[in-house]
Amino acid sequence: ATFKIGYFVGSLATGSINRILSKALIKLAPDTLEFTEIPIKDLPLYSWDYDADYPPQGRALKQAIEASDGILFVSPEYNRSIPGALKNAIDWGSRPWGQNSFARKPTGIIGASPGGIGTAVMQSSMRSVLSFLDAPQLNAPEAYITFKPDVFGDDGEVRNESTAEFLRHYMEEYAGFVERVLAASAPGHI
Ligand code: FNR
Repeated sequence: ATFKIGYFVGSLATGSINRILSKALIKLAPDTLEFTEIPIKDLPLYSWDYDADYPPQGRALKQAIEASDGILFVSPEYNRSIPGALKNAIDWGSRPWGQNSFARKPTGIIGASPGGIGTAVMQSSMRSVLSFLDAPQLNAPEAYITFKPDVFGDDGEVRNESTAEFLRHYMEEYAGFVERVLAASAPGHI
């Protein structure tokens, strides 16, 4: 079976190291995963005023989440938390009330930082948010990536074999997790 994975890059920066990480993950992932980015940069700031009539960007975001078998968050840590642009996108996806698009979607969280903490605090915040949104999460392995510019090419090439193996293993485990969650929720469909 193949699985459609919608992925979020939590950074809007043109030179984002997390965008580079997302490219590396796509290259190293099993062939059974098909990736589509869910863009966040053109979303207005969410307000529940929009719940009565979502704008096209909000509708497109919810449709993209709902069309995905699994969701992958590749995000930096900003000020020890979730980047505002990504939290805004999650807020959009979670509403209108009762129409939370993340419910029961298998999710993975990974991120890169130049520092040694490797986005661990952001990931912990994300786990609280995704738990509240009833989104199952890959618990292990965890992946806190310290970004070394000599290891990652701009196109997502990974020049260090142990890093490549770690990321490959992460994506294999993520693929297995998505498959298990879907099999449990819709037996017979895969
Ligand atoms: C950062 N950075 C950062 N790094 C980290 O490990 N923990 C943190 O809490 C923060 N906080 C933070 C806040 C803000 C506003 C910025 C701009 C940066 C550094 C950050 O990891 C670095 O800029 C990365 O390049 C960000 O990832 P992207 O945006 O390049 O994908």
